[in-house]
Amino acid sequence: MPPIPIVKAKGTLLFSEDGQEYIDAISSWWVTLHGHAHPYIAEQLYRQAQTLEQVIFAGFTHEPAVSLAEKLLPLLPGNMARIFYSDNGSTSTEVALKMAIQFWWNKGATKRNKIVAFNNSYHGDTFGAMSVSDRSVFTLAFTDKLFEVIFIDTPATDNIQELIKTIEQEASTIAAFIYEPLVQGAGGLKMYEPLLLDQLLKTMKAHNIVCIADEVMTGFGRTGKLFAGEYLSEKPDIICLSKGLTGGTMALGVTACNQKIYDAYLSDDKLKTFFHGHSFTANPLACTAALASLHLLLQNETKQSIARITRLNKIFSEELMQLKGIKNLRQLGTILAFEISSGKDEYLNNISATITSKMLKKGVYLRPLGNTVYLMPPYCITDLEYEKVKIALLETLENI
Ligand SMILES: Cc1ncc(COP(=O)(O)O)c(C=O)c1O
Repeated sequence: MPPIPIVKAKGTLLFSEDGQEYIDAISSWWVTLHGHAHPYIAEQLYRQAQTLEQVIFAGFTHEPAVSLAEKLLPLLPGNMARIFYSDNGSTSTEVALKMAIQFWWNKGATKRNKIVAFNNSYHGDTFGAMSVSDRSVFTLAFTDKLFEVIFIDTPATDNIQELIKTIEQEASTIAAFIYEPLVQGAGGLKMYEPLLLDQLLKTMKAHNIVCIADEVMTGFGRTGKLFAGEYLSEKPDIICLSKGLTGGTMALGVTACNQKIYDAYLSDDKLKTFFHGHSFTANPLACTAALASLHLLLQNETKQSIARITRLNKIFSEELMQLKGIKNLRQLGTILAFEISSGKDEYLNNISATITSKMLKKGVYLRPLGNTVYLMPPYCITDLEYEKVKIALLETLENI
């Protein structure tokens, strides 16, 4: 199917060149929170663009970057102390991995350099991020260029003891553990239990393993709470954010760390510097968009919308449960996912393209991951629009 030229977007709607409109039921790859072309974010961006559009972020600083850090830090799970800016989700995880590895290097513990990650994980498309992501069609061509990682299953009641044992055995060589808390995004919106993750994190922390929460997808209300980490008692040392950070308006990445990590870099020894920076690090426009999005996110109205979508998802889940041919129905906050039981459980499964095309004809944009169908709408979706998505999906499921 050739790409569809989109000329305009407003709220949940995408408008194409040929006059069609589509409800963006997956928030344009999970980034759009408050709706497309939001007037408040646009206004703030316009004002900032006339004031300061970009400045090198080495030796200089600016108000949007400082203000964003000050507003974001107290909202994050754990005692986050510092913010490091980059450009997107992949760079936020890349930065986190480098930060954790150099943390041990700066302490002279160079043997603590292994990373633990989950099977089925996805942390981005750059080389470090690919290395800690499950080996899949995304990484196939690069297998021998990726660094070695200890991959473990996500915790379940029947494997938690075994996982804890593996970590305890390898602990002295492990630098960090990276995880998508509670929902594995690109791996197929797979969900797992907070209590079990807490047990695993507790073991990691007992061995001083640096815990990196990749909240690139789960952050900013997606799971029903501001951050998925709020469902957990054990807090991370480092958090990665992007996607909804700017409400989906501009590309921006954040890697936040606690004081313990930061302190390992405080030294007169120049070799202990964290040598990482991008041309557009802390771009003032992107930081302004993030500030505007955060302002909207913290409004009662937005919190109510997140709760409303959660309720709509619950009702829809009950209806879907009555259908034959779907399995592993799961829901957390604004995310609803299930698998179609016929066909192969893989990303290249043709069923995805079939569903996308049938749904587009009904005015809804969905993009299943292989045979995993999911909804993740912007928070501004109306009850009526949600109903339209629901009817379109039920009709489509009936016909495949
Ligand atoms: C959990 C997670 N981490 C990292 C990334 C990479 O983000 P980006 O596409 O902005 O590089 C994604 C993207 O889907 C993600 O879901």
